[in-house]
Amino acid sequence: MSIAADAPLNLVAREGRKRFGGSLLPMSTKAKPAGMLISFEGSEGSGKSTQISRLAAQLERKGREVIATREPGGTEIGEQIRGIIVHNSKGDEMCPETELLLFTAARAQLVREVIAPALLRGAIVLSDRYLDSSTVYQGIARNLAPGPVNEINRFAVGTVMPDLTVVIDVPTEVSLARIRQRASGLPDRMERQNIEFYTKVREGYLLLAKQWPDRVVVIDGTLPPDAIDKRIWTEVQKRLA
Ligand code: TYD
Repeated sequence: MSIAADAPLNLVAREGRKRFGGSLLPMSTKAKPAGMLISFEGSEGSGKSTQISRLAAQLERKGREVIATREPGGTEIGEQIRGIIVHNSKGDEMCPETELLLFTAARAQLVREVIAPALLRGAIVLSDRYLDSSTVYQGIARNLAPGPVNEINRFAVGTVMPDLTVVIDVPTEVSLARIRQRASGLPDRMERQNIEFYTKVREGYLLLAKQWPDRVVVIDGTLPPDAIDKRIWTEVQKRLA
């Protein structure tokens, strides 16, 4: 679990205490497994949700508590923010700065309401997207300056950083073809972006993996699901307490 002992942890501790009736660490730390945050990243149609369900089942078979969540959303407030970003009829007029602040606002709520309390009680949290999505989509693909994007991201998550980030990498054409095949009808606002945008997204993730080789692992999303499964499981096992 990546919660360090500084100011943001105090906030997390306060939130945790509120939710668990005053006993933040009710059990001896020896008896409790360490919490772990695993984020899944990649462009649309990369197959993140299939892999999250598979990993959740595998971890539960091992007796671990698993919390699966998604961004934007995962809380009532976050889901309302998601509606503004993804399905707003005026959405195409939204500027990248607003987009960044809305995504990170939803994330700030998710961290304090769901993720941090779960980590504190030793659960494994699987998040469908996390702060790297803002770095890549708003920073790299929408060209916002990296300094402010990183700072706003850090402000939103405090010290709750992923222990592992799985990037499921698929060629841009594959990703776009999968978006078009989705049964849900018309593409949403984010999905209407062009090929150049998704190429930047893909390259952005590969860049992050180079920058954070211990945390960010890239997996070829064109492999059969079982092979992807296996690779993810190897990475998770390396980090399990
Ligand atoms: P969603 O329908 O959840 O797509 P996916 O299944 O691919 O995750 O929509 C989320 C969209 O929002 C997706 O296009 C990625 C984008 N996004 C950002 O641009 N920045 C962010 O910080 C996050 C979390 C998502």
